[in-house]
Amino acid sequence: MAHRLFEGKEHAAAYWKYRISPSDHLIQQVLDFLEKQKGRPFDLAVDVGCGSGQGTVLLANHFASVVGTDVSPAQLEEALEHAKRPNITYRQCVAEELPFDDSSVDLVTAMSAFHWFDRPRFLQEAHRVLKPHGCLALLNYSMDMELSCNDGCSHSLNQVCKEFYIALQPYRSAHLGRSSIELYRQTHESIPYPDKEWHDCLWVKKSMPLSSYMGMVESFSSYQALLREDPQKAKRLSEDITQKLLSAMKVTSTETEVVVGVRYFYLLACKPEED
Ligand SMILES: C[S@@+](CC[C@H](N)C(=O)[O-])C[C@H]1O[C@@H](n2cnc3c(N)ncnc32)[C@H](O)[C@@H]1O
Repeated sequence: MAHRLFEGKEHAAAYWKYRISPSDHLIQQVLDFLEKQKGRPFDLAVDVGCGSGQGTVLLANHFASVVGTDVSPAQLEEALEHAKRPNITYRQCVAEELPFDDSSVDLVTAMSAFHWFDRPRFLQEAHRVLKPHGCLALLNYSMDMELSCNDGCSHSLNQVCKEFYIALQPYRSAHLGRSSIELYRQTHESIPYPDKEWHDCLWVKKSMPLSSYMGMVESFSSYQALLREDPQKAKRLSEDITQKLLSAMKVTSTETEVVVGVRYFYLLACKPEED
């Protein structure tokens, strides 16, 4: 069953606008693993659950062709608006039934998406489409993003952020379990490929206005769940947190820049030669 929580046009646009993409360094870690395990050429990469295509576009320089797939037409529409390279295409399909031949794909990625899939079925499907020595890369980041600012207010900012995340915790989908990092770690342990790696901490930092940080948290599924259940409560929470962040920074404008750090964790696994 696909978890269709990302369907609205506005929500899709918020993804493109606010989410923090993997850094070049993180993408390079994935490419280095693929190079080591399979070698070149890099023909086809498939980015599953590509959303608005933020991660998909990062692969385009490195592969002859890149296909982003997603179940949501609104997300794909947004992705198409930003797909400037001729070697990127998008397909609408579920992650558990990918429209690719057996043993035809060099790299399968899922960026901030694998946890939403029917995970055992997706892993089987990734296995089917990967070439021997092709690689699977599952990337995600935890919601406890950290803020920093120039004049020593980072500690108080992060106290407020923590309050925000705790308020949203009850709206976390049951499908995700208690901890995303544990879910990915256990997936890494369960994958029966001998060549695999687990990395539990790679910080990606980005400077943005405070309003964009708020936009990013509001794009998370837990905030969206609260918004559906009680729009007034969601709006009050956002306004309250914004005010507290502004006063911690002793500023009045939500256009004030902050540095947002997200902690990425990821697993890499290489499909062995067929038995
Ligand atoms: C949190 S978003 C991540 C989007 C993008 N990869 C990124 O890094 O910003 C998760 C995406 O997975 C898609 N998705 C969820 N379940 C899916 C499934 N079973 N099959 C295909 N796509 C799915 C959603 O539509 C959504 O676009």
